[in-house]
Amino acid sequence: MRSTATARHPDPYRALDAQPDPEPLIASLEERGRTPAQARMRRRFLRFAGIAPGHEVLEVGCGTGVVLRDLAAVAGARGRVVGIDPSRAVLRAARRFCAGRPGRAPITLRRAAGEHLPFRAARFDVAVAVTVLLHVADPLRVVKEMARITRPGGVVAVQDQDFGTVAVAHPDRDLTDRILRGVAFRIYEEPYSGRRLPALLRAAGLEHVRLLTDVYQDTALEPYTQTFLERRAERAVRFGLADAATVQRWLDGFTALGRDGSFVMTVNYYGAVGTVPPPAGAPAPRGRPGGR
Ligand SMILES: C[S@@+](CC[C@H](N)C(=O)[O-])C[C@H]1O[C@@H](n2cnc3c(N)ncnc32)[C@H](O)[C@@H]1O
Repeated sequence: MRSTATARHPDPYRALDAQPDPEPLIASLEERGRTPAQARMRRRFLRFAGIAPGHEVLEVGCGTGVVLRDLAAVAGARGRVVGIDPSRAVLRAARRFCAGRPGRAPITLRRAAGEHLPFRAARFDVAVAVTVLLHVADPLRVVKEMARITRPGGVVAVQDQDFGTVAVAHPDRDLTDRILRGVAFRIYEEPYSGRRLPALLRAAGLEHVRLLTDVYQDTALEPYTQTFLERRAERAVRFGLADAATVQRWLDGFTALGRDGSFVMTVNYYGAVGTVPPPAGAPAPRGRPGGR
């Protein structure tokens, strides 16, 4: 497998295996996966993608297999689900979490990068990537690969959060903006990737592109949100945006809001789906996009 990861890139999900300790990052994928509002959004997105029993589905950047397990439940015993990820560490975790799920589609895991998918053209009914394109250097290349391995009439479905839409209640708005905006722009090549997904699918040649905008809403300061804010705080110090005492005061502000029931954080998640066109000169596939 050719690697597109760079060890020194500030986005740790671009090169999980190069991190001094990838375990907390791996654990937070599962933490996010079991957060009820996240699970609802994820399942809404998979319904929007039209995944149905019997489908053969590829997930690009499968991480620990949170999405794979939902896909296997929807595709059912007659379906088949394949997950690829470039990280050995995350695939080890996925093997553990995805083992032994009778009555559901079998899950196969492979080490590969989205830029070079090791599958023949038109093999899958649906290809999905959930919160992955944000982390890659060339998202168009990945989406074109997803389109290549999806059959004509099949669906490419991508979902990303958009860090230009993070809204949190906090008494110090200037500090909040400095930390959240400053950190996002230092980590991600395109922190606003979510809102750009429909244009990306069109650029990759997909048809009938549709958008589902969903909102992650947390009013309980969930463990996943707490981890997210702590990581932003730690990076704000590392990137010189604020000193340690200031970010601690910032985090304490959220704890106080959580205590009195006033905590609010929302983030938009954008899900875009598009249909693979028939080969040039072929008649258009019959029926609904994504149907067999
Ligand atoms: C934030 S995680 C999302 C995991 C999973 N889709 C989920 O929603 O739980 C991003 C994943 O993308 C993987 N990744 C990073 N670069 C990639 C690339 N070039 N191609 C495919 N996956 C990649 C990372 O290893 C990581 O597992």
